[in-house]
Amino acid sequence: MATLLLLPGDGIGPEVCAEVRRVAAALTPDLKVEEALYGGASYDTHSTPLTDEVRDQALASDAVLMGAVGGPKWADAPRHLRPEAGLLNLRKAMDVFANLRPAYCFEALAGASSLKPELVSGLDIMFVRELVGGVYFGQPRGIEDLADGQKKGFDTQVYTTSEIERVGRVAFELARGRTNKVHSAEKSNVMESGLLWKQVITELHAREYPDVQLEHILADNCAMQLVRAPKQFDVIVTDNLFGDILSDAAAMLTGSLGMLPSAALGAPGKPGLYEPIHGSAPDIAGKGLANPLAAILSFEMALRWSLKQTQAADALLAAVKAALDNGARTRDLGGSLTTAQMGDAVLAAL
Ligand code: IPM
Ligand code: MG
Repeated sequence: MATLLLLPGDGIGPEVCAEVRRVAAALTPDLKVEEALYGGASYDTHSTPLTDEVRDQALASDAVLMGAVGGPKWADAPRHLRPEAGLLNLRKAMDVFANLRPAYCFEALAGASSLKPELVSGLDIMFVRELVGGVYFGQPRGIEDLADGQKKGFDTQVYTTSEIERVGRVAFELARGRTNKVHSAEKSNVMESGLLWKQVITELHAREYPDVQLEHILADNCAMQLVRAPKQFDVIVTDNLFGDILSDAAAMLTGSLGMLPSAALGAPGKPGLYEPIHGSAPDIAGKGLANPLAAILSFEMALRWSLKQTQAADALLAAVKAALDNGARTRDLGGSLTTAQMGDAVLAAL
């Protein structure tokens, strides 16, 4: 029996994960759902955002689904013990190097975008963000005192050939099942690591994926093109930091940050880490106002990518679309449904 580890975390995380539980009970009753403390919630109890036990539990499960992490309550916790550090440590421990971040526009929500509906209607981009390398983890890093009394803050952006190749492969493989087009975004005009990125992707493409259409794009131009004509993109592969920024921008184009899931994948057979793209939204936490669809769709991705239950995933995706077509809207979508009522709408459609 497959195991899903739920890490509800902080803010609205527990509320949206409760809806995942209900959906899982109805859709995949054989799936064993476990739950553990994580993030600020873990810090409050165990003085660390991720205990060794929970890390090991994650590594031993088939898929891990997080709610959300962080909040103003832990702003003053030591940096290495902040909720966000727990997230980065978990990504690293699970070695989930390929972060799939879809930005797709649900037809019922095309009017909710900040761009004209015709620019986003039918939008379907898949970001593949490198997730366990680059400037997020590069050494050395720190804040040092200088002789003249100033301080110096520094980080290291670093990528090796194999780190670029493995995430590149994920992008090319994905593209083959879509419209066969990959954009690779870097700053090869300025950064050495960007130059290497471009060279490695070029060689990988020529060697293993000549059938896929590849375009290199500078990351700043990519940002511009995303808000100018986003439908030109299909798969975009990029590094950890650019992927963080570009995927937020693309997600918002769909008018629905509260709607989008993500999947972080490691080597085949290893558990994936699934999380809604939205944050912990402390301002609305505990009020039943959060949209649970991003978490529910993260479960959909877990079914598809880790649990290999394609039929259940298809059924869940169809149910979410049907609920939206039937007019189900939480507050972020201009409606008045509570978190649980949105869960009800999905369950009814299921
Ligand atoms: C994300 C978030 C995280 C990141 C933070 C919370 C550490 O912004 O998942 O995009 O920067 O990766
Ligand atoms: Mg981010």
